Amino acid sequence: MTIIRDKSTGTKVFREVANEIAELMVYEITRDLPLADVEIDTPMGKTVQKQLAGKKLAVVPILRAGLGMVDGVLQLIPAAKVGHIGMYRDEETLEPHEYFVKLPPDIDQRDLFIVDPMLATGGSANMAIDALKKRGAKNMRLVVLVAAPEGVRAVQEEHPDVDIYAASLDERLTDNGYIFPGLGDAGDRLFGTK
Ligand code: PRP
Ligand code: URA
Repeated sequence: MTIIRDKSTGTKVFREVANEIAELMVYEITRDLPLADVEIDTPMGKTVQKQLAGKKLAVVPILRAGLGMVDGVLQLIPAAKVGHIGMYRDEETLEPHEYFVKLPPDIDQRDLFIVDPMLATGGSANMAIDALKKRGAKNMRLVVLVAAPEGVRAVQEEHPDVDIYAASLDERLTDNGYIFPGLGDAGDRLFGTK
């Protein structure tokens, strides 16, 4: 987190480290996935061991910046499907606007990991969760790198059923809606657009 917060970190390293943190977070967010007993033969004989019970999963990045976490998540759950939700925040009003939704057809049967590096006012996350629920999604978790307390409260109030996983809970939002100390504009830093 220190590396990606640092403003002297360039696009290449920012991308690598954002994915690396996302990959590490997968250990935590998949901790309670159901397991099933399976009998196997080791070279020493029969044994009953655990394996994933085959729960269907999907990763849903909130575009653009959420794309910066997808590869990291897929390192550990490579068979997961990927849905996309396009959302941008109006820089003046801070209101989110939805511009794209493309999801696996069986989204209602999957456990979803919504990924976005930043949870600021919570507007984008809340609108993304609304869009998913409207299309039948039932079980989802929100996975972010940096959260502001204001954003956590907003999501908890509107969607108390959605657990939030954050690599860091920061101090506050600034007057223009940025997270402090945060890391700046995640999309611009990932894609080198500013
Ligand atoms: C950023 C970020 C979140 C959103 C968080 O996206 O990736 O989606 O802002 O802010 P909020 O909690 O106040 O809604 P942005 O709108 O800048 O779009 P981008 O990912 O395309 O850069
Ligand atoms: N979106 C970002 O990319 N950064 C912030 O600090 C807040 C919203």
